[in-house]
Amino acid sequence: MMKKSILTGIKPTGQIHLGNYMGAIKPALELAKIQEFQATYFIADYHALTKMQNNAQEFRDLSNGVAATWLALGLNPEQVIFYRQSDVPEIFEMNWILSCFASKGLLNRAHAYKAIVEDNKKLEKDPDFGVNMGLFNYPILMAADILLFKTQVVPVGKDQVQHVEIARDLAQSFNRHYGETFLLPEYKIQEDTAVLPGLDGRKMSKSYQNTIPLFAEPKKLQKLINKIKTDSLPPEAPKDPETSILFRLYAEFASSQEVQEMKEQYGNGIGWGEVKKELFLVMNRFIEEPRTKYHELMSSPETIDKILKEGAEKARVMSVPFLQEIKEKIGF
Ligand code: ADP
Ligand code: TRP
Repeated sequence: MMKKSILTGIKPTGQIHLGNYMGAIKPALELAKIQEFQATYFIADYHALTKMQNNAQEFRDLSNGVAATWLALGLNPEQVIFYRQSDVPEIFEMNWILSCFASKGLLNRAHAYKAIVEDNKKLEKDPDFGVNMGLFNYPILMAADILLFKTQVVPVGKDQVQHVEIARDLAQSFNRHYGETFLLPEYKIQEDTAVLPGLDGRKMSKSYQNTIPLFAEPKKLQKLINKIKTDSLPPEAPKDPETSILFRLYAEFASSQEVQEMKEQYGNGIGWGEVKKELFLVMNRFIEEPRTKYHELMSSPETIDKILKEGAEKARVMSVPFLQEIKEKIGF
């Protein structure tokens, strides 16, 4: 059976938090285990360059940190093709070729760019204030990532759907000129994972500085859990697990028997302080092992590098001949 190719990129723009884990990493690791899929996951470091432009060491650490997180949580580089985007130069040649098939109007309508223009207009600034061409061309680079690997399915969050549609448009545009070349990718929205709120009740996001880093040290983890907002019901009052983020987190990390018991305790009345203590215990139990592995990897960047370089070689087995074929069609 031919496996379906799934591919997704992970941008190294911040320390991985619980929202990233529950909303993106965990579902992707589960998809990678499904027999009918060949998964390709990569660190989209050139995409991050549109924003992160000040500190080389920080850039390297974030890129390694994201790779180490995935590996520590069980990504198997034997099973998943796992590389750094910057190690696959064909992507950037592909990027230029596709940019010549992208109308400027198409990119003017891309959400991320449009949002900045709208904000600038409101503030009566030049509409393109603060926009670099990397940001404007972002969807083209993403299309190159996807199309160069004959990707069939792209698992993404809702905010990335338009980018996958742009990749389809560019594929069709090229195919019209040169005959069937690219597959048309489909997106797969990771829907079941509702947005996880952060410490202040807004979406957990590095932009709001309200996150619980996945690999926080035990003391810090306990402290952050204690900061999660709760209502002012007294300890003895029965509580609704359905609307409680503490319960949702508990259910993520506890065994089904523990979850059942906690549900009963909610019904009988339990103090939030007590729930937080229990939550810390189950979370820390789950995180302990990957956290150790994460630190081991981070103290050995050569190991991370070697894994990613080997992944890039595997990726290039596909990208080198396919790019060649594309260039021949064009007439190079
Ligand atoms: P951030 O909001 O911290 O900047 P990103 O936008 O880089 O995070 O998101 C990376 C991935 O993690 C995306 O797939 C996104 O859908 C997922 N994600 C981020 N925050 C959350 C959250 N609070 N709940 C669920 N998923 C999330
Ligand atoms: N743009 C994606 C994000 O911000 C990351 C990404 C880059 C990507 N290239 C991709 C996702 C290709 C899927 C496929 O999250």
